[in-house]
Amino acid sequence: MILVTGGCGFIGSAFVLDWLRLDGEPLLNLDALTYAGHPGNLASVEQHHRYRFVRGDIGNTGLVTELLGAHRPRAIVHFAAESHVDRSIAGPQAFVHTNVVGTVRLLESALAYWQSLPAAQAAQFRFLNVSTDEVFGSLEPSAGGFTERHPYRPNSPYSASKAAADHFVRAWHHTFDLPAITTNCSNNYGPRQFPEKLVPLMVHNALAGKPLPVYGDGRQVRDWLHVQDHCSALRAVLAQGRPGETYNIGGRSERTNLEVVHTVCAALDQLRPQAQPHATLIRHVQDRRGHDRRYAIDDTKIACDLGWKPAVAFEHGILSTVQWYLDHPDWVESVTSGGYRQWVEQQYPSLAAAA
Ligand code: NAD
Ligand code: TYD
Repeated sequence: MILVTGGCGFIGSAFVLDWLRLDGEPLLNLDALTYAGHPGNLASVEQHHRYRFVRGDIGNTGLVTELLGAHRPRAIVHFAAESHVDRSIAGPQAFVHTNVVGTVRLLESALAYWQSLPAAQAAQFRFLNVSTDEVFGSLEPSAGGFTERHPYRPNSPYSASKAAADHFVRAWHHTFDLPAITTNCSNNYGPRQFPEKLVPLMVHNALAGKPLPVYGDGRQVRDWLHVQDHCSALRAVLAQGRPGETYNIGGRSERTNLEVVHTVCAALDQLRPQAQPHATLIRHVQDRRGHDRRYAIDDTKIACDLGWKPAVAFEHGILSTVQWYLDHPDWVESVTSGGYRQWVEQQYPSLAAAA
C-alpha cells in the first residue's frame, strides 16, 4: 500500500481518485484538513475498500510512526503543504511550520520506518516529495526552460519554504540513504482547485459577474499543467524514478496570465453565454509583491528517462475544467463559505466596492 499526505487538497485528491481507479493497491490518506483540504473531494471513494482516511498533521511524529508501523506502506507520496503564494506573503509562518518543519518531521518518521524494513522491502521503498518549479525563481523571457540543474533561487516565502523542504529531502537521501525523489512541477489546473488560485478564481468571479483581478500588466508567464497529467507523471516517477534524482514536470503550455484569463472567458462564453463577453470583467489590479515574471519547464529528462509527456492540450483542458465547475456548483458553494470570503476581502481591497 501507499501513504499519501495532503490527499484532500487539489492535486492530492486527483492523485487518490486516479490511484483507486487505475491501480490495485490500497492507499492511506493523511490530511490535517486545513482551509485547503476538503473531504468532499473524496466523497466518491469514502467507502472504497482500498481507501482509508486519517485526519492528522504530518508533523505529528507519534501519529505518523503509528500509521507507518500499522500499515507498512511501500511508498510515501508527500503533497501536504501550504500552497498559495499570496497567503505566504500575508502570513509566512504557516509555510515554515508545514512545508519546512512538517516535512522534516515526516522525513524523520519515514527514515526510522525505512531503517526498520527488511532489506528487500527497504530497497523497494520510495519517498516522493511533490514540489514546485517556483524554487528556481524567475526566468528571462528568452531563456530556455528550467532543467533539473537550474540553481535554486526562491523569491516568495512559499517558494523559499518549498526549496528548504527540497534541500532537506536531498540531505536525507545523501546523508541517510533514504530512497527519496523530488518532482518540481509547473502550475496545475483542473477540477477541485480551491478558488484562491488563478483559474478557479476567474471562473468563480466570472460566474458571479464579479471583476476578474489580473495582477500588474498580466504578462507574467506560467507553464500550465493539467492535474491529471501531473498525476500520471507522479505515477511514472514512483514506478521508474531513481532514488536521489529530481524530475521536472511541465505542461508544454506556456501562457501569459492574460492569455489564461481570456481562454477561461472564451470557455465561459461558449458554455454559459451572457449578453456581454466575460472578458469585459477583466480588471488590472495592484501587482503581487516580488511577482516572478516567468516560469517554464524543460521536460527533456522525464521524457527521455521515463517516457512521460503531457497528454492534455491547454485549451481543451481549460474547457473541460470550466465545464467541471459549471457541473459542480455545490462543491464551489461548500468551499467558498466563511473564511474564503474574508480572504477575498483582504486580498482584493480595490475590488471590494465593485463586488
Ligand atoms: P492544496 O493547498 O490544494 O492542498 C494541500 C493539502 O495539504 C490540503 O488538503 C491540506 O489540508 C493538507 N495539509 C496542509 N497542511 C498539512 C499538515 N500540516 N498535515 C497534513 N496535511 C496538511 O495544495 P495542492 O495545490 O494540491 O498542492 C499539493 C502539493 O503540490 C503541494 O506540496 C504544492 O506545493 C505542490 N505544487 C502545487 C502546484 C499547484 O499548481 N497547485 C504546483 C506545483 C507544486
Ligand atoms: P497562482 O494561481 O496564485 O499560482 P502561482 O502564484 O503559484 O503561480 O497565480 C498564477 C498567476 O496568476 C501568477 O502570476 C499570479 C497571477 N494571479 C493574478 O493575476 N490574479 C489573481 O487573482 C491570482 C490569484 C493570481
